Amino acid sequence: MSATQVGIVGAGPAGLVLAHLLQRCGIESVVLELHDREYVEARVRAGVLEQGTADLLNRIGVGERMRSDGSVHRGVNLQFLGRRHRIALDELTGGKAITVYGQQEVVKDLIAARLAAGGEVRFGVENVRLEGVETDAPVVHYRHDGQERALRCDVVAGCDGFHGCCRDAVPHARTFEREHPFAWLGILAAVAPSTEELIYAYHDRGFALHSLRSPELSRLYLQVDPHDRIESWPDERIWEELQLRLASEGWVLREGPVLEKGITALRSFVVEPMQHRRLFLAGDAAHIVPATGAKGMNLAVADVVVLAQALDVWYRTGRDDGLRAYSATCLRRVWRVQDFSVWMTMLMHRHGDAFTRRVQEAAQAHVCESVSAARCLAESYVGGATL
Ligand code: APR
Ligand code: PHB
Repeated sequence: MSATQVGIVGAGPAGLVLAHLLQRCGIESVVLELHDREYVEARVRAGVLEQGTADLLNRIGVGERMRSDGSVHRGVNLQFLGRRHRIALDELTGGKAITVYGQQEVVKDLIAARLAAGGEVRFGVENVRLEGVETDAPVVHYRHDGQERALRCDVVAGCDGFHGCCRDAVPHARTFEREHPFAWLGILAAVAPSTEELIYAYHDRGFALHSLRSPELSRLYLQVDPHDRIESWPDERIWEELQLRLASEGWVLREGPVLEKGITALRSFVVEPMQHRRLFLAGDAAHIVPATGAKGMNLAVADVVVLAQALDVWYRTGRDDGLRAYSATCLRRVWRVQDFSVWMTMLMHRHGDAFTRRVQEAAQAHVCESVSAARCLAESYVGGATL
């Protein structure tokens, strides 16, 4: 049986950032990941980093490629029935901005830096099982290279995403869940973005979003029915729909080859508490927010910052108040972000009856006409302080 201080299950943003933060405090960890490195690095996800997330990646020394290949956006556009309205993020938040840089690029940078620093990431582990998380010496069992193995640790960090196994080891957990009545069809297209800043568009036919990845790559989304199958969305239909929903006078949407496409449900999910004795859940393992606010990765990073700080204090001084408060500390932010993400989802998607739509249109007008309403949106969008 091998041993480490912190056993980390999952090499997504949560697990990898945690490994880096711990390493900087001199705390040893081993990361166990179900998939292989190529798979993890190729997985296309969202791409908006809050100011605090970008600052943190810079601070821990993995921000070089983000600074050269990512782009800082000081504003975003909201479009209501063809009329575009810019939210000046920097002016409204005292100089903050977002960085647009694909999550899988962040993951690549984190893995490269982890391996370069001599840290361990075991890819392709199967059948992870936790034992003794209520004792002082939990063990993570798993299979690797056809052999049964065990990792003894002081603490286990469950960073294994929404479909992971760690959440099941929290007894008496309460879950809060909401399936929103729509899904997103996302495409990655080999075409120069038609906009410099993101466009979130509300339209009679449904929501659409124009995001970007690089000077040659665009990322676009359409609100679709959650029961829709990707086979019923040939590329021509996707572009046709994007043209209709994003249309704005004097503006042209460029089309190009679709490199990748998929449908994802919009869901809210929270588990309480996020910890049980020596097990701590972080990121998607503990919560999912609807994609409209682009908060998933940012929330994952915020969790592990809290966890790393609490572990640092515990190892240095023996004080465990930070660890005991972990779940409560994280959940305050999780529910605030849930609130924002659900609000933004309901503001921008086509849903409900005629009454709902009138209320929705009033809320849309308010964001465009009231500086304080716009500031509220901007502050939530660029994100709160990351400890
Ligand atoms: N054993 C080991 N690893 C596992 C297991 C398991 N049983 N189950 C899942 N994993 C791995 C997944 O393969 C994945 O690499 O855990 C990792 C979890 O990573 P993410 O799903 O990226 O979750 P997280 O790190 O919390 O980051 C949250 O990711 O899901 C997106 O949009 C979401 O941006 C958000 C961010
Ligand atoms: C993305 O670029 O993938 C993206 C951007 C903004 C969102 C969601 C996803 O709100």
